[in-house]
Amino acid sequence: MAKVISFGIQKGGSSKTTTSGIVAYILSQEYGKKVLAVDLDSQGNLTELLTQQDIYNFHEKTVFEALKEKDAHKYVHNVSEGLDLLTAEDHLARFPSWLYESYRGNRSLVLKETLENVQDEYDYIIIDTPPALGDQTINALAASDAVVAMFEASKFCYSAIGRFLETCIHVQELVNKDMKIAGILRSLIDARRTDNKALIELIEEEYGELCFETIMTRTAAIGRLSINGFQDNPELNQGLKLYREFVKELIERV
Ligand SMILES: Nc1ncnc2c1ncn2[C@@H]1O[C@H](COP(=O)(O)OP(=O)(O)O)[C@@H](O)[C@H]1O
Ligand SMILES: [Mg+2]
Repeated sequence: MAKVISFGIQKGGSSKTTTSGIVAYILSQEYGKKVLAVDLDSQGNLTELLTQQDIYNFHEKTVFEALKEKDAHKYVHNVSEGLDLLTAEDHLARFPSWLYESYRGNRSLVLKETLENVQDEYDYIIIDTPPALGDQTINALAASDAVVAMFEASKFCYSAIGRFLETCIHVQELVNKDMKIAGILRSLIDARRTDNKALIELIEEEYGELCFETIMTRTAAIGRLSINGFQDNPELNQGLKLYREFVKELIERV
């Protein structure tokens, strides 16, 4: 049975997509694991990052069709050795209206039930979520064994994290009591900025051991990853250093 891990925070631009994509890549390429990445954001950024293709190439072959048919298997797209993807494009924005107008059943459990027919084929399922506490994020949390809360060092993200963790607890109480909050990952840190340092420390004071020890800094190589992709990228190896440390911690925690 696959371990299902979501990356979330309702604040946009917190490195959810970048981190989930890199984690899926490292687990498949460096650990030899079978990984399914799931793009649950209608922006399709994870789809673009992993495939380096136009997201509209996947029209009507996305996670939204999988959700509607409760069949992940049919819509899996192979990215590279050991790494598959359920893609997303804009029309996933209609997921909530579909859910409330056409769906009869527990609205939080559609993704979990959709993934059931592929759970045995993977070691890990990695879910990237949109910047909102809406139905996609609730479905991701309800389907997960563990969640990573992304913290980007800004006041807005500081304001978001408490409510994100409350939402996780709410989902635990309602539909997924075994879901674990794996931890808070501090990301996009600029070590030269004193306000960044102060926010890193503030989060540590408040949440203590819930914080991952690894702190992700901003690097040019990772900033360019969406342009250059994972294949034939000479600066990738250097860029992944900290991510490898994080993946070690993550595996131990989940
Ligand atoms: N470690 C990093 N170093 C430099 N830039 C990064 C890093 N992680 C993410 N970024 C950049 O920050 C922006 C936001 O990241 P993204 O993964 O899209 O966040 P989210 O999915 O939370 O909106 C993107 O432009 C991305 O390329
Ligand atoms: Mg994103």
